[in-house]
Amino acid sequence: MPISEHPQLDRDGRLRHLLSIEGLPREVLVRILDAAEPFTDTGSPDSRKLPLLRGKSVFNLFFENSTRTRTTFEIAAKRLSADVINLNVAASSTNKGETLLDTVDNLCAMHADMLVVRHAASGAPHLIAQHLSATRRDQVHVINAGDGRHAHPTQGLLDLYTIRHYKRDLSRLCVAIVGDVLHSRVARSQIHALNILGVGELRVIAPKTLLPAEVERMGVRVFHDMRAGLAGVDVIMMLRLQNERMAGALLPSAQEYFKFFGLTQDKLELARPDAIVLHPGPMNRGVEIDSAVADGPHAVILPQVTFGIAVRMAVMSLLAAAGA
Ligand code: CP
Repeated sequence: MPISEHPQLDRDGRLRHLLSIEGLPREVLVRILDAAEPFTDTGSPDSRKLPLLRGKSVFNLFFENSTRTRTTFEIAAKRLSADVINLNVAASSTNKGETLLDTVDNLCAMHADMLVVRHAASGAPHLIAQHLSATRRDQVHVINAGDGRHAHPTQGLLDLYTIRHYKRDLSRLCVAIVGDVLHSRVARSQIHALNILGVGELRVIAPKTLLPAEVERMGVRVFHDMRAGLAGVDVIMMLRLQNERMAGALLPSAQEYFKFFGLTQDKLELARPDAIVLHPGPMNRGVEIDSAVADGPHAVILPQVTFGIAVRMAVMSLLAAAGA
């Protein structure tokens, strides 16, 4: 695709919107991860506030619930000196029937510079980006904060940042993604990111009912037996069981799921001794992960959240630089 027609990049190859990991060149992903490095140094009061988004308005539009993503976007934008507006969707005119694009038009009329969008409908952030382009408002940037089953690009990036932080060379790693891949936008973003960045081996471990058709075509090795799939892995990326997106009974019971696909201490011991365990949150303890593992020495689940601030700062500062 010519760079000028790219939905996420401008003519100079700079990030214009962040809608999905899929389709982004490796160098853009590396640029984001590298840009996040200095933002993790927030230990001193002086490094807490930077002027990179001074005078910019960032609107958080979360049409679905969130704890981590919404809050870390707000912290990240404030650390970059942006004005942050959290649209209270439950009390907004969406409830009176206003369309998504009418809401966007009104926020643009309030001089929005960035729209951070979470929506239950796959493709909603793409729709907004297309609308902005069609109405010649290319100076407004869209960041996908999770759309339906499709993508959660900043989660994929912060997961990659976390792996790179603890393990450095991705090409030597064996990574396993475990659980409800079928309904998971996080898993899709992780798979694209890991493959684009050249992971050594990528496995998915799940029951057949929780895998998309022809998942192998995404560049993964499939396991239905968790013990076989975890043997010798360096990184275990657990997924939340997405009960809210399951139509019909795809699983016999939560107890049975935990027995076969829950990460327990004895299953963790099949991985390498220095394996790390990630989970995007929110966790279903006792369903996909045992508390002894979630709170144990291999877990890097809370550092993931902290790195999420730096990664979101990196994304927003690169978007602002492209729009300058
Ligand atoms: N990982 C994640 O997206 O968490 P939230 O739903 O709390 O934002």
